Amino acid sequence: MKKPHKVLLAIESSCDDTGASVMIDANIVSNVVSSQIDHAKWGGVIPELASRKHMEAIGRVVDQAILEAGIKKSDIDAIAFTRGPGLMGALLVGVSFAKAMAQALQIPIIEVNHMEAHILAHFIEPPRPRFPFLCLTVSGGHTQIVKVEDWNQMTILGQTLDDAAGEAFDKAGKIMGLPYPAGPLIDRLARQGNVVFDFPQAQVQKFHFSFSGLKTAFLYFLRDQMKKDPQFIEKNKADIAASLQYAIIKALTQPLVLASHETGIKRIAIAGGVSANQGLRKKIAELGEKENWEIFIPRLEYCTDNAAMIAQAGWFKLLARQFSELDITADPRLKVSENL
Ligand code: KG4
Ligand code: ZN
Repeated sequence: MKKPHKVLLAIESSCDDTGASVMIDANIVSNVVSSQIDHAKWGGVIPELASRKHMEAIGRVVDQAILEAGIKKSDIDAIAFTRGPGLMGALLVGVSFAKAMAQALQIPIIEVNHMEAHILAHFIEPPRPRFPFLCLTVSGGHTQIVKVEDWNQMTILGQTLDDAAGEAFDKAGKIMGLPYPAGPLIDRLARQGNVVFDFPQAQVQKFHFSFSGLKTAFLYFLRDQMKKDPQFIEKNKADIAASLQYAIIKALTQPLVLASHETGIKRIAIAGGVSANQGLRKKIAELGEKENWEIFIPRLEYCTDNAAMIAQAGWFKLLARQFSELDITADPRLKVSENL
């Protein structure tokens, strides 16, 4: 193959998915994700296990991304990697791999913030939002409303004070006896049920979120009902799921409407694993009609953790020639806009 204009390799290893992606001249040409299924039996992600699995997978995943892109390693101009936020051990695998490979190839590295990448995933393919827009980022680790004025100008307007939205789904699912990750299962069950149980809404400051109260209320509610009828969960699974999902979606969308009113921004994007939720998508669409929003939701494979979004975020920096030093290390608590 003729040497393409610009080739970027991107690596993602912040949680339990090992990802590699190749971008050529602003187009994603490969996007490989290896998901770690080993955590399910423990009911959550075990950090040490995640690091070990990343180490086992990363070489193969990167090779696959390069193969599918139809390039040679020597064609790569730079390597983008997730610096944070995420699990320290997991991040270190990607950071170390990127640094070693870049050194061997004598090419620069580009640090990427995972949360910014979730947002910038909207630029992988059309329809791309125009600036400014609001992004509701909802994943297993984070829940934020971010005002996005440019690829390198983001402000967090609100965020969760405790659990993330995905965590709320997963923890409530665990209480119900569902396997990890419970989010997609609750989504599916909810479609067969009705909202019949009322769960409390946390009182939090403007644009913020809180899910720990809901989780506790959910636990006590089920415990009380199970005392009366040990079959309660089994008999009411779908209605419990629908009611829980309704409460989570309400907690997610109310601050978003408020933020849109206050900023006057009507371009609304959602990102992160929980944006796969059908109930949330439906609610956002309904609100869009009512509030006259222009709505942006990435393709599913770009919503959940992936390296294509790291490539997209890295691409902006590649064009701006914002490279990182080789002594850079992972930052598990990296904040949005901290490294822009
Ligand atoms: O963005 P993501 O893939 O990884 C993180 O960065 O956390 O998000 C994973 C989270 C999990 O908590 C999972 O239960 C949730 O997203 N999730 C869902 C759905 N699909 C994934 N939650 C609700 N409904 C879904 N359809
Ligand atoms: Zn994520």
